[in-house]
Amino acid sequence: AYEINCEPLKDLIRTVPDFPKPGILFYDITTLLKDPAGFAQLIDAFAAHYIGKGIDLVLGTEARGFIFAPAIAYRLNAGFVPVRKPKKLPAETAKVSYDLEYGSDSLEIHLDAVKPGQRVLLVDDLLATGGTMQATVQLVEKLGGKVEGIAFAIELDFLKGRNKLEGYDVYSLLHYN
Ligand code: PRP
Repeated sequence: AYEINCEPLKDLIRTVPDFPKPGILFYDITTLLKDPAGFAQLIDAFAAHYIGKGIDLVLGTEARGFIFAPAIAYRLNAGFVPVRKPKKLPAETAKVSYDLEYGSDSLEIHLDAVKPGQRVLLVDDLLATGGTMQATVQLVEKLGGKVEGIAFAIELDFLKGRNKLEGYDVYSLLHYN
């Protein structure tokens, strides 16, 4: 496939030390999003990678997955599906819980959001430990969807989140070590 070099986009991502906790370096995409050319290049890069792969649905995880997934869906002529934090979706849902550093969290999807056999692309802004995306994969597969690909704007290589997504086609535009 035709690939776009996204490395220059790193200049548009702001790093914020000690957010949200001491010792964490936060990769802030808002500085990229407000740049018209930067935002367009990012969406173009995702679209170039997945165009022609028969994606039916692009799924985004609350909250920052909601920024990219609908734009990619539009470019792929696919539908958009939201995965949300608990008790936000109004109709019947499937739910999955996953462990955090301290405690646990859960995510929900509408039961009728994905039909069995549909080809789904899962999108989030960032891959850290992989817990969020692993849970999202479980939701899609519970409904019988086929995970065609998993895409991130940013992957923090040193956290090895990719290991939790073994066997899936994981594609990240930007890598940090
Ligand atoms: C961030 C990020 C991913 C997730 C990655 O979301 O947007 O969804 O963490 O972390 P993981 O790979 O270790 O699971 P956050 O939990 O901050 O929620 P938000 O997007 O609603 O702010």
